[in-house]
Formats: sequence, C-alpha cells, structure tokens
Amino acid sequence: MCGIVGAVSQRNIVPILVEGLKRLEYRGYDSCGVAVHQGGALRRARSTSRVAELQAQVDEDGITAGTGIAHTRWATHGAPVVHNAHPHFSAGPKAAADASGLIALVHNGIIENHDELRDELRARGYVFTSQTDTEVIAHLVHQLYEGDLFEAVQRAVLRLKGAYAIAVFCRDEPHRVVGAREGSPMVLGVGTGAHAGENFLASDAMALAGVTDQIVYLEEGDVVDLQIGKTWITARGADGRFQRVERPVRTVQAHTGAAELGPYRHYMQKEIFEQPRAISDTLDAVEGISPELFGDGAYAAFKEVDRVLILACGTSYYAGSTAKYWLESIAGIPTSVEIASEYRYRDSVPDPRTLVVTITQSGETADTLAALKHARSLGMEHTLTICNVGTSAMVRECRFSYITRAGVEIGVASTKAFTTQLVGLYLLTLALAQVRGRLSDEQEAAALKDLRHLPVAVRAVLALEPQVISWSEDFAKKENALFLGRGLHYPVALEGALKLKEISYIHAEAYPAGELKHGPLALVTSAMPVVTVAPNDALLEKLKSNMQEVRARGGELFVFADSDTHIANDTGVHVIRMPEHYGALSPILHVVPLQLLAYHTACARGTDVDKPRNLAKSVTVE
Ligand code: M6R
Repeated sequence: MCGIVGAVSQRNIVPILVEGLKRLEYRGYDSCGVAVHQGGALRRARSTSRVAELQAQVDEDGITAGTGIAHTRWATHGAPVVHNAHPHFSAGPKAAADASGLIALVHNGIIENHDELRDELRARGYVFTSQTDTEVIAHLVHQLYEGDLFEAVQRAVLRLKGAYAIAVFCRDEPHRVVGAREGSPMVLGVGTGAHAGENFLASDAMALAGVTDQIVYLEEGDVVDLQIGKTWITARGADGRFQRVERPVRTVQAHTGAAELGPYRHYMQKEIFEQPRAISDTLDAVEGISPELFGDGAYAAFKEVDRVLILACGTSYYAGSTAKYWLESIAGIPTSVEIASEYRYRDSVPDPRTLVVTITQSGETADTLAALKHARSLGMEHTLTICNVGTSAMVRECRFSYITRAGVEIGVASTKAFTTQLVGLYLLTLALAQVRGRLSDEQEAAALKDLRHLPVAVRAVLALEPQVISWSEDFAKKENALFLGRGLHYPVALEGALKLKEISYIHAEAYPAGELKHGPLALVTSAMPVVTVAPNDALLEKLKSNMQEVRARGGELFVFADSDTHIANDTGVHVIRMPEHYGALSPILHVVPLQLLAYHTACARGTDVDKPRNLAKSVTVE
C-alpha cells in the first residue's frame, strides 16, 4: 500500500528516496513519484509503472537534490493515472495547471472531509488537477502558508478529518521537510556517522534500512520539523495548542525487504516452502508453556481475564477463527472473533475482564489498529498481539506480544504468516489453559512434542506438491469453486477459498459442510469443483454425508483426506492423501495443500501471483 520516504541532507538524496521506494514496493502500489527542491524550484517525476521506471525517468531528467519526498501510491480516491500520483504540488489560487508550485506533498491514508475542504479551496480560487484527497492537503498547506512551513502544517492538520501521514516541503524553505501523522504510521530517521545532520521521514523504518538505524516512532498527532542538523516534534497538549514533545530514538535493525527467490518461481511459492523453518524459528525460544512467553506480567493479566476477544482482518482473521476452537475447547475460555473493520464501528458490550488479542502479520493494518484502540476506549486494557514485525505499531500499542518468526513475507497472499500465527495462538491457548488449571504436565509435554514435530509434518505435506499440480490445470479452467470444512477446519476452508480468489481471481466460497443443504447446494453442478478438507476427526462421518450430497448432484469433489479416513478415489471424487491425523494442530497441515492449489492454479492462469490485481500487502488505510 502507500509508502513515503523524505529527506533533508547536504548530499544528493534522490538515490536514497528511490531505494526507499524499492524497499516498500512489495507492499503493492499502482503509481509512484518523487519531488525535489532543485535550482530554486520544485521538480518531480511520476510514473504508473514500477519504481525502476521512475528511477530511469529521474536519471534522464537529471533530478538531484538534498531535499525531497517520494511516494508509492495505492489508489483510493481517483484512478491510478499519472496526474493522481504523488507528490502533489500547490502553486496557489488561479495558478496554471502546469505551474511548478510552492508546496510539494505526499500522503498516506484517507482524508474524510476532502469534499468540504475542496469546495472551500475552490471558492478561494485553487485549481485541482487530480481526483485525490491528497491534493486538498497540498492546497490547504499553501493557503495557510505565511513563511513558516512547520506553522502552516500544524494549522492544516487541525482541519483534517481521517487518517494521514504526510511529508511536505516548500520552494521557499529549501532545507526543510515537515511531516505529520494521525492514524497512519510514520518514522523519523536520524543520520549518523559521516552523515550526521541529515534527517529522514518514512512510513516504515524498512524504507531507511542501510541509511540509518536511529529511528523515532512518531506518535498519533505528532508534527515533525526536519532540517539539516535539527529536528523538532510537537503534539497538541490538553489546551489544544501544539507543544514540543520528546520521543525516544531507538536503534532498529529494520529488515531490508530484500529476499532472494532462490530456486522458486515466485515469493509465494518460496514462502509456502519456508513454513517448516518459519514454524521452528517461531518455536525457537519456547522451552515450556508459560504466560511469560507473552511478556512480563502476563501471568497476572491472564489470571484476571475470563474472556478473549480476537480482532483481525483477512487471513489473520481466519487464524483467529481457528484459535477460537482451541481456546474454547482446550482453555475453556469464552472467545469471540471479530473482523476488525466491523468491530470498530458496531455497538458491542465491553467487559474489562477481556483479553483483547490482535493478530496481524504486518502490525500496521489500519483497521486492526483502530479496532484495538476502540476496544481500549471501551475500558479493555489487557491487550496482546500475535505479530510478525517486532518493530510495528501494533507491538508498540499492545501490552503483551508474541512475535512470530516467519521472516519477511513478500507475497501479497499470506502463507507462512498464517501458519506461524497459528503456532503463536496455540501457545496462547496452552498458556491460558495452564493459568486456568486445565493443562497438566503430561498434557504440556505432549503438546510441546506435537509442536516441535510440526516442521517435519509440514515438510511431508509439501511433498504432495506434484499431486496438487496435477489438479491445478483443471482448476485453472473453472470460474467458481466451493470449499468445505467442518469444525476446526472450517476456517481452513475459508482460508483456502481466500487464497484461491486472491491470486487466481476464481470466485471461491467456503462453507461449513453442514450448511450446504441450507442454500449453497443449489450452486452444485458438474461444473462446480468442491474442495473438501477431510481430517480424521470427530466430524468425519458427518462430513462424508455432506460429500454424498455433493456427489448426488453431480458435483466434483477434490478431497484432502487424512490417510486414515478411508476416503478413496472414485468417479467424481479425487483424493490427495494427507499424513495421519495431527490432532488439534491439524489445521496447520491442512492449509498447506490449499495454499499450493491456489498457487499452482494462479500460475496456470498466468496471473501476477506475488502482486495480485487491486491488492496491497500492508493495508494501512481504512
Ligand atoms: O498484516 P495483517 O495480517 O494485519 O493483514 C491482514 C490482511 O490484510 C491480510 O491477511 C490479507 O487478507 C492477505 N492478503 C491474505 O492473503
């Protein structure tokens, strides 16, 4: 999704800006741009192609400077065309559309009152050249500018409703970049060593990897002034006035975003095959089950709670949905799982004795962060996150955390993040069970043994890839698919359907198999592939009856069956045999062939697997 990099320095910072954009590329974007202060004027290059193309344009145009801002855009307001790409300029009222301007600005987030502000600015003579909400901010800053950019931005943000991280510079203040954030992440990077004195802004510390590891995480409402050798942060105090605030500088080893593909065709395939390693790394520090795995003081907090509320989006939501089964059956704790974007806007009945658990790969998902804040505003202070990025906003916001060690996930379709989230959630289940007196030493030892054997078990499932490939050619010709699962494996079916639709663009729906007869059975014909997750659990016989219902209507079944289920290949029934049933941890095995099926089907359809259309890796807007 959108990314920001900004810099003030005495050296040419354009290569740093472009490299920063490259590091943010994997998150998904549809246009990009850079603007600098050069020769007393604003200059910019924008592209609806890749950052590499932008770089060529920048080189060709001879764009170099010590002050500049850059952006990758994921379209929300206005199509992904060059005139909507950031940076946006404001040249003032009645200025010609091609005037180079006084103010240059980039923005992540969504300004909700952009219509109202646009009307107001139009009435003052400002001319809009884009359909974006961002251009409104550029003109607003221009309108409020009286010779001090920092002042103008402080005044402008008071007028904004919605979420934003912005970086701005001004033609008349060549060595200054101003940033502000509310609802969207932004960091300040402080130059060190030979480059002491230069300062940077970025929407993620990763954009500055290799440039500086001295990072200040800006807080909600912060406005920051960057000059050479000086930074200044303000936030509004209780009286509504901006006052200077101190934010700690941290040493952050941000990952570089770079990852070799190795022998794989796509990052998604690589990440599917990395799961055994990701799971063992996630378990690395676990010697036994204890609440303290989640942070100091977790025992006391776990003692105090008698419910769990899980908040997440997408794949992370399905991880939470799986965990609900574990938490209720193993730990005996009532659990609800809510889609973050729904929870934050609905009236709910809060209970302060709730453990609020957010699940997020990136730790920057706007809806999940907002849902967490909403839960806290309702008085629920026990917060815990299962997250893959230790330096993320979510980890900073939550009292407790478990950091999964999946490693950087580049493919938009989440795979190794999901299975490692499940590992973290299983540990949480066991820890809560322990605190509640529901985990004996023998049960703990058996659970740990199963967890530690998981990488080997996942490797055995990955060996099924050739069989999955043999199905994918057939799947690639379909336009619809149904996924069935029951109980603990219903969320796995949901995740399988999400994977397929995300990257192959085949319409896929998942149902608990018992629901078929209540409606979706009407869709079943010989043209409808029905993927079935068939573990050898207590619901197997019920599931077999549901499969008969499909066969009786001519539906073609593609079944991932545990080897001890006695489900065999037959007319219209294709079976891939999984290892023997893996008990409570079975979802971690059963999701793997569904990932492979989606992946190979997408390859057969020739889609852009790692960057599927319209999607972004990290969803930092509402
Ligand atoms: O970073 P998060 O885990 O918070 O992201 C949540 C979803 O946006 C994410 O899982 C999304 O659904 C993936 N593209 C699914 O493959």
